[in-house]
Amino acid sequence: MKKIILGITSSIAAYKACDLIRLFVKGGYDVHAVATEHALNLVSPLALEVLSGNPVYSSPYPEERREMQHIELKTDASLLLVMPATANIIGKFAHGIADDVLSTTFLSVTCPVLIAPAMNPNMYNHPAVQENMAKLKSWGVKFIGPVFGEVVCGDEGAGKLADIETIYRAAADAVA
Ligand SMILES: Cc1cc2nc3c(=O)[nH]c(=O)nc-3n(C[C@H](O)[C@H](O)[C@H](O)COP(=O)(O)O)c2cc1C
Repeated sequence: MKKIILGITSSIAAYKACDLIRLFVKGGYDVHAVATEHALNLVSPLALEVLSGNPVYSSPYPEERREMQHIELKTDASLLLVMPATANIIGKFAHGIADDVLSTTFLSVTCPVLIAPAMNPNMYNHPAVQENMAKLKSWGVKFIGPVFGEVVCGDEGAGKLADIETIYRAAADAVA
């Protein structure tokens, strides 16, 4: 069974991680969710755990587990998929910042990395985000989306999360 690490960050689209996990489980993948602490304001850890059948990783200093969560997932993963990816996590990855479980996981995995950004179009078009993405692409990181459309705040432009089936297909192709 192929193992997929699903990084979830605090875009309003974080709830869609639940649907994506269901697709992965149905497709026969072993999904391990790693959510930023902010993401857990927007999607319930219980829902992620129940749907994936695995514990959710978030704090590098968990009270209930004693192992090295910050790098524990690095071995035997076939893919690190970050969906949705905030401007913040893209910036942290591009600069080697390692201050939570998702950013330390990014630095420690050797598998392919696929990122599905989601943000306001002005944020997405900002040179800071564009340069961070270009840097990650030059390191071999792949992106899926974002797509053009209306985002939750009502603005229109590029920044909308790609649809879940498209992300699922891109992830499945990446581990095939
Ligand atoms: C309701 C809500 C929705 C947000 N949606 C987005 C988003 O779609 N994309 C984004 O880059 N930031 C978004 N933010 C801002 C991020 O949550 C903020 O930058 C946060 O510090 C990112 O932390 P994380 O990357 O560790 O999850 C949103 C914030 C709130 C409160």
